[in-house]
Amino acid sequence: MILKVARLGFPSVRTAAKPVALEQVKSHDFQKLVDDMIETMYEYHGVGLAAPQVHLPIQLAVLEVQNHPRYPDMPPVPLTVLINPRVTIVDPATADDWEGCLSIPDLRGLVPRATEIRVQAHGRDGEPLDFTARDFHARVIQHETDHLNGEVYLDRMPNLSQLGFLDEWQRFLMPRPPART
Ligand code: NI
Repeated sequence: MILKVARLGFPSVRTAAKPVALEQVKSHDFQKLVDDMIETMYEYHGVGLAAPQVHLPIQLAVLEVQNHPRYPDMPPVPLTVLINPRVTIVDPATADDWEGCLSIPDLRGLVPRATEIRVQAHGRDGEPLDFTARDFHARVIQHETDHLNGEVYLDRMPNLSQLGFLDEWQRFLMPRPPART
């Protein structure tokens, strides 16, 4: 089932999400929610979606970069479900790139992100995950885990003059359309 996406202004987008109780992860309702979030991410051509974006203030996010028509040059990221993720910066060096967000339609902004992170989380069946992510993969995860803290990419922008509408930017500045997560 495709879920309605909350936009900036809806309280859950600006609320720190609560941890998921791991004993409920294998329940039918939780697994259905994960499937619905994945379906919603695909429907709107996002590369990630966090539960606060579907009106639920819980620490759950999904992401995938696979044969994406808008990012053919990006290394693929397998479908990943993150429950209660913790992100540690491995390499504090940052890189700038354009980001968008399904909760902030039509806008894109230039956002610095750490280039290498460690991610500790639980997967969709509650199994522990511990991996490092780099570059675009690390960017998508940082964007999604920010959502779980009630933050959006606008908060990370040092220079709001680098915020604009996608169709205007595309005509002048950008070599490729950016991520929507
Ligand atoms: Ni987003």
